[in-house]
Amino acid sequence: MGSIEVIDADITTLRVDAIVNAANQRLRGGGGVDGAIHRAGGPRILEDCRRVVPDGARLPTGEAIATTAGDLPARLVVHTVGPVYADAGEDAPALLRSCYERSLAVAGDEGCRSIAFPSISTGVYGYPVEEASRIAMAVLTAHVDAAREPSRVVMCCHGEHDRAVYQRALEDLRGG
Ligand code: APR
Repeated sequence: MGSIEVIDADITTLRVDAIVNAANQRLRGGGGVDGAIHRAGGPRILEDCRRVVPDGARLPTGEAIATTAGDLPARLVVHTVGPVYADAGEDAPALLRSCYERSLAVAGDEGCRSIAFPSISTGVYGYPVEEASRIAMAVLTAHVDAAREPSRVVMCCHGEHDRAVYQRALEDLRGG
């Protein structure tokens, strides 16, 4: 049986098979968790990003793609592009759901047994964290209940506020 845990930590430190990056469509790094992953993981991640999303190409919003994790303890980085809340309009929930679903599928295809997610789109991309947490937890609980790999799922929040929001969303779904 799989597991879901909600923690407050720096995702770049986690010893899981895959960590998910909240990237942009160009996959050339950025701020937030994207910047932290590239800083901690080193230049090999960016080199691999150039391979999987060549100059001029774009990773569509809601899609996910794997690269090396470079110097990180994780084996892979799964880069996903969340919706920009103000631009996505009524498509925002489906696009955010797709980020979680596609990241799980890519990690599963790569043989990962554990995965850690940041709070996708709730920083620079402006997604309200309460709404985002309900979408994320609906995907993660369905995935774990279907007994699919990766079976160990970590929701890695950055700060106690977000941790409590995601934990509440999980408990609301688990009837906790
Ligand atoms: N570990 C875990 N979570 C982190 C870390 C970290 N080291 N650093 C930041 N976060 C959290 C933020 O606090 C926020 O809750 O990640 C969440 C996502 O915020 P952003 O990183 O701003 O990502 P997002 O809102 O999806 O915007 C993506 O920002 O950095 C650029 O290149 C990126 O253009 C893309 C956009």
